[in-house]
Amino acid sequence: MEFDEVVRGRRSARGFKPDPVPRKVLEEVIELATRAPSSMNTQPWHLYVLTGAPLDRIRRENTERNLAGVKPSREIRSHGEYQGVHRQRQIEIAVQLFQAMGIERHDTAGRQDWVLRGFRQFDAPVSIVVTYDKELEGGDIAQFDCGALVNGLVNAGWSRGLGSVVNSQGIMQSPVVRRYAGIPDDQVIMICVAMGYPDDGFAANQVVSRRRPVEEVATFVGFDDSAAVAAG
Ligand SMILES: Cc1cc2nc3c(=O)[nH]c(=O)nc-3n(C[C@H](O)[C@H](O)[C@H](O)COP(=O)(O)O)c2cc1C
Repeated sequence: MEFDEVVRGRRSARGFKPDPVPRKVLEEVIELATRAPSSMNTQPWHLYVLTGAPLDRIRRENTERNLAGVKPSREIRSHGEYQGVHRQRQIEIAVQLFQAMGIERHDTAGRQDWVLRGFRQFDAPVSIVVTYDKELEGGDIAQFDCGALVNGLVNAGWSRGLGSVVNSQGIMQSPVVRRYAGIPDDQVIMICVAMGYPDDGFAANQVVSRRRPVEEVATFVGFDDSAAVAAG
């Protein structure tokens, strides 16, 4: 696939075929993703590629603890509830997904089912847990590096027919993830990526999320002579 085709075609997958993903394919995807830039080429990331029984235990205990009201214990800092434009965009994608799935506004059971799917990482056959070295905790750069890697993972996966969804729902109960994935104490759990062959019949998989236009996102400086003169 061409680069543009991959980037434009990719969208999060939240419904998967049960087919296992060959380890060889995952290794290829990870190898491509590790070409991501990182600060001073420090490559502070580690990946725990989970499937089968360990992943099922994580899904089960993550769900049980969340349902029992155990406070989320993510190891990365949260900004709290989204407000303003961020909240609007959050709502927009939620509405798109619920519409696709036929979940009405007051359908409490439907909404609950959707949340539970998220806790189970949408029953994907594979979850890749991304961690970084704890000695870098306190700065912001290692998280940035991991983000670059994760972008590579989802796009490289897509180029090989794999769908994925980056998700923080799967690591809400990080001690559970740490225990069953065997993550040592010198690493911080950053995020996880649920991955597998997408079920094209699953309505939410067809949702294309909107993006802000370039003129809104980017401020070009020094390109326009008249602006330069005005500034000068
Ligand atoms: C850091 C991060 C956390 C996310 N957490 C979740 C999640 O918990 N559940 C979920 O369904 N999607 C989650 N997503 C996926 C986003 O909702 C999705 O990437 C966004 O809506 C854009 O849609 P697209 O990936 O289809 O382009 C997360 C994405 C990122 C980058």
